[in-house]
Amino acid sequence: MSDRNDAIETAVNVLRRGGLVAVPTETVYGLAADARSRSAVARVFAVKGRPVTHPLIVHVADSDQLQDWASSVSSEALLLAAAFWPGPLTLILPARASIDSGVTGGLSTIALRVPHHPLTLELLGRFPNGIAAPSANRFGRVSPTTAEHVRRDLGEDVDYVLDGGPCTVGLESTVLDLSADVPAILRPGAISREQLEAVLGTTVHATAHGPVKSPGQLPSHYAPRAKVQLVRPEAIAATLADLQAQGLRAELLFEPETQSIVMAKELYSRLRQLDRTGCDVIVAFYPEATGIGLAIRDRLERAAAPRS
Ligand code: TXA
Ligand code: MG
Repeated sequence: MSDRNDAIETAVNVLRRGGLVAVPTETVYGLAADARSRSAVARVFAVKGRPVTHPLIVHVADSDQLQDWASSVSSEALLLAAAFWPGPLTLILPARASIDSGVTGGLSTIALRVPHHPLTLELLGRFPNGIAAPSANRFGRVSPTTAEHVRRDLGEDVDYVLDGGPCTVGLESTVLDLSADVPAILRPGAISREQLEAVLGTTVHATAHGPVKSPGQLPSHYAPRAKVQLVRPEAIAATLADLQAQGLRAELLFEPETQSIVMAKELYSRLRQLDRTGCDVIVAFYPEATGIGLAIRDRLERAAAPRS
């Protein structure tokens, strides 16, 4: 058997025993548990330090498995699945009544996604229960985009890390609520509102700034230890000089000419790197408010939000 086969086999066995496996996806690494095991799912919450009212995404092998979890699968859901799965899109659908409230956080809906990574797709092919997986970081902190990030954050708390290399997208999936009258983006990601509207042929509401429905919606989230300061690109030099004059270690997050797609892929690694080097203030400029730029902006605003 190849190393790859051994690794997947080990991951499947750990999941079957009720253990936790860090899995690679195209977005970020997930902390995976058997989605049908109440105790394994409970351990995910304990390890993350995540409030139990914050529901998890169930990752499945393909859209045929939607009906195992959703009480009804609309034509919109099937259209989007055909267009974007495997890929960085999570669909919120009405949940089957039999689904354990540990996964759904007591909501009547369920989050479902087919991730785009060869190792994890193969794992899911061999593990039909599906895996419940939040990002493999402690609650409120920066998400991991390499196996090394996971090991550093979670150490012995994760039973096995399936190393699939660095994540190619780098930001969490777009979360689309299809359970309401009008589809609504609850968390922006690499799949843009325009792309969703083009497939559906209808309006999609942008991120609702209403009551908190998802933890990714909390004002302070995705936070490094250093303070993050968001400025317009033309204010970068003056801001850095001002902070340095105050005796603070200030670093620029990205050079202004950096492409959005590169920023998305590198964002969490760079935040972690700046934290490790003891930076006090991370200065970031607002990316373009289009496409994946909106998702980067969302994460930066939350990283910059005052901590409670
Ligand atoms: O890219 C991703 O989505 C990654 C990878 C591992 O798949 N996962 C991820 O999981 O980011 P997590 O738990 O960090 O974020 C899941 C988001 C949260 O904002 C959660 O509140 C929301 O999905 N969510 C889950 N179930 C929901 C539901 N029934 N209704 C509304 N939001 C839900
Ligand atoms: Mg997360």
